[in-house]
Amino acid sequence: MNDAMSASLNDEMMKNIDWSKLGFHYTEPDYIVRAACHEGVWEEPYATQDKYLHLHVSATCLQYGQEAFEGLKAFRGVDGKIRLFRWRENARRMAKSAEGLYMRPVPEELFGRAIRLALEKNIDFVPPYGTGATLYFRPLLIGTTPRLGVGPGRDFEFVVIPSPIGPYYPGKFHCTSFIVNRHVDRAAPFGTGQFKVGGNYAASFRATEAAHAQGYDCLFLDAKYHRYIDECSAANFIGIKECTKEQSTMYKVEYLTPLSSAILPSITNDSLMTLAKERGIKVTRRRILLEELSEMTEAAACGTACVISPIDKVVDPEQGRTYSFGSEPGPVLSELYHALRDIQFGRAEDRHGWTEVIEIKN
Ligand code: PLP
Ligand code: COI
Repeated sequence: MNDAMSASLNDEMMKNIDWSKLGFHYTEPDYIVRAACHEGVWEEPYATQDKYLHLHVSATCLQYGQEAFEGLKAFRGVDGKIRLFRWRENARRMAKSAEGLYMRPVPEELFGRAIRLALEKNIDFVPPYGTGATLYFRPLLIGTTPRLGVGPGRDFEFVVIPSPIGPYYPGKFHCTSFIVNRHVDRAAPFGTGQFKVGGNYAASFRATEAAHAQGYDCLFLDAKYHRYIDECSAANFIGIKECTKEQSTMYKVEYLTPLSSAILPSITNDSLMTLAKERGIKVTRRRILLEELSEMTEAAACGTACVISPIDKVVDPEQGRTYSFGSEPGPVLSELYHALRDIQFGRAEDRHGWTEVIEIKN
């Protein structure tokens, strides 16, 4: 498709965007942003309306899975300003994923320029305040060197794909149910689970699709013992426990989240931990036995896409157990959800410098 055709297709689509009905689906933006790296040298990111890559069939991303991606959002605030949330953390995590797969990391400042350019060129796709929708960016890094011999390539392409999105789980802040699967591992303890690479997601599809077929999302356990909680589909796990007087005289509640070398270090989880500590909640990151769910009063999945998605139940068919948390979001996680949303949408003071207001030149 040429540029003019793509632009007119978008004009059509813009008319049809019902922001408040958007789900977590791709809507074609006007522009994507690209930058290539050859011989270790990155070119300056540029915007293009062409959404197709001209890729060699033997590119290392296709043959050997040399691919990493990210996900971050721009928010239209209550004051009309556009804020990017913690983009440097995404840039740093992508650099780690790149190193994990022997790819050339995208320099942090170049990552930032690419995101800002993608925002500037797609400004009409930033959803209005109050719709709950945001402009999501999917930065993607792929190996483009043609190779048949097994090994990493030397050439890379960095792409930023923007798309306006609604909530990951339909409904504003509602509960999801999870099912345990001990027959499919998402990532090994010393594998690539800590990196955001496509292979982890492909590896999880057998389990997630089987879960969806039964009306659940998949709860992954650690791959070695199948005893500890790793991740909730494509999100980190959070559990809330009440502290007894014997456990602590200082804290009433504890925020628990898994410590595991196989899970993605979530930027949302990191932010929520900070907000929890500020509210006098004890925050603990450690291995969490599946059975400990029975001691928790609230549980949730967290990530950029869903922010916090409370869990109403976790079913473990093999052990014949169901852990229930009630069908309404609990008070602790609700408070943290709203605290984070308030910062992202400019309703509360950003005391941690997590947001960057982006001025768009006309
Ligand atoms: N875990 C996995 C496997 C993910 O794909 C994501 C999403 O990025 C997360 C956790 C949450 O991470 P973040 O909060 O940085 O989006
Ligand atoms: C997230 O952004 O929270 C995710 O879980 C990423 C997923 C949509 C690939």
